[in-house]
Amino acid sequence: MSNLIVLGAQWGDEGKGKVVDLFCRHFDIVARYQGGHNAGHTVRIGSRKVILKLVPTGILRPGKQAVIGNGVVIYPPALLEEIETLEAVGVKPAGRLFISNRAHVLFPFHRMAEGVSEGRPGRVAIGTTSRGIGPCYEDKAARRGIRMADLLDAERFSELYQRLAEDKATLREAFRLSEPVGGEKTLREYAAYAERLRPMVTDTAMLLNRAIARGKRVLFEGAQGTMLDIDHGSYPFVTSSNASVGGASTGTGVPPRRIDGVVGVSKAYVTRVGGGPFPTEAAGEDGERLRTHGVEFGAVTGRPRRCGWFDAPLLRYAAAINGFDSLVITKSDVLDHFERIPVCVGYKLDGRLIEELPATPRALSAVEAVYETLPGWRTSTCGITAYRALPARAKDYLRFLEQQAGVEIGAISTGPERKQTILVRGSKLEKLLRG
Ligand code: IMP
Repeated sequence: MSNLIVLGAQWGDEGKGKVVDLFCRHFDIVARYQGGHNAGHTVRIGSRKVILKLVPTGILRPGKQAVIGNGVVIYPPALLEEIETLEAVGVKPAGRLFISNRAHVLFPFHRMAEGVSEGRPGRVAIGTTSRGIGPCYEDKAARRGIRMADLLDAERFSELYQRLAEDKATLREAFRLSEPVGGEKTLREYAAYAERLRPMVTDTAMLLNRAIARGKRVLFEGAQGTMLDIDHGSYPFVTSSNASVGGASTGTGVPPRRIDGVVGVSKAYVTRVGGGPFPTEAAGEDGERLRTHGVEFGAVTGRPRRCGWFDAPLLRYAAAINGFDSLVITKSDVLDHFERIPVCVGYKLDGRLIEELPATPRALSAVEAVYETLPGWRTSTCGITAYRALPARAKDYLRFLEQQAGVEIGAISTGPERKQTILVRGSKLEKLLRG
């Protein structure tokens, strides 16, 4: 029985939500392994549009279990609001949603602490989602963070919270930050959240490992994307967790040997939100057209996404880091409108072709993208469900991406609905899904 990771091959927003939602009928449990309420998976079911930030998409399928792993940082008000929204649309998380007792808790002062770097003169603005994600992971790494298990222990929680709030008050003063730290009021609010979340908090690593031992199948759901990974992404313009393959193991407590496949999700072009290098960014009219046709605005913050052309060197890098078995290409129908479609096939730095992705933002920004231009198909592919029904030029485009990436394309998403998907017959992905 195989367990599978689905993660973003680019800078996030690749459409993982739909892919996980589609695949999870083959699995028993969907587990989220990193990030927090900075992520936003938009899932459409018929006319319904649900944005999931912390709860794994699997919750939408009756009978499936969902796990928020230890690698996730949890902002309780956001999680509770999401649970309420789900209940309002008839989805009942009770008894199916499990939260790791080792996941770290995010507080309002984490958001305040983000003001130390974001928006301060002389500091590099990452263009974060302003949710306090980075500072929460900072506390985790500094070994002063508060975990779900601590939150449930009233006495210990009060002590830990006061100590941490004291540190943040010092920070606030030193950096003349404007947001309040919070105090007794926050403490009381969190004590109330604890009681509401208590029935769902458990040792999810043990839950997952026991389930796997009983032959249950787990789908690991990544948030953000490989290029936003704290170690392998375009540092410092990254998020603060491991969005790439390793995060699935450290963020859930499931050994790598129990994970059988890795699926990368990539748009047929590229987008990114926030600052940082973007070698294939399309300036001007092309970028604008990609944004308009692709409705490229952030699910969480509403920010317009930067848009550009498919970047094969970037995908080859992501494939190397993650060991992709298969790719799902999303939003290929957005390219229906283009007469010519450039694809970046290589990078030049100082006039010379380079094989490796530069490690510094300065060098990655200085990279010159080398393009090959393919003819567009100029006809609607929206909603096509069979590979053979695609126009010849769309097939050529996809084959070209496959060759360039060096990884098979196992599925193509041709629209936002579950059924608007092509699963490529005989692909490795098909076998992995069958288990
Ligand atoms: P943070 O995760 O809020 O600290 O933001 C760090 C960087 O990651 C910024 O460039 C954000 O725009 C980006 N980011 C965080 N979450 C997402 C996501 O879900 N999709 C796309 N970009 C994201």
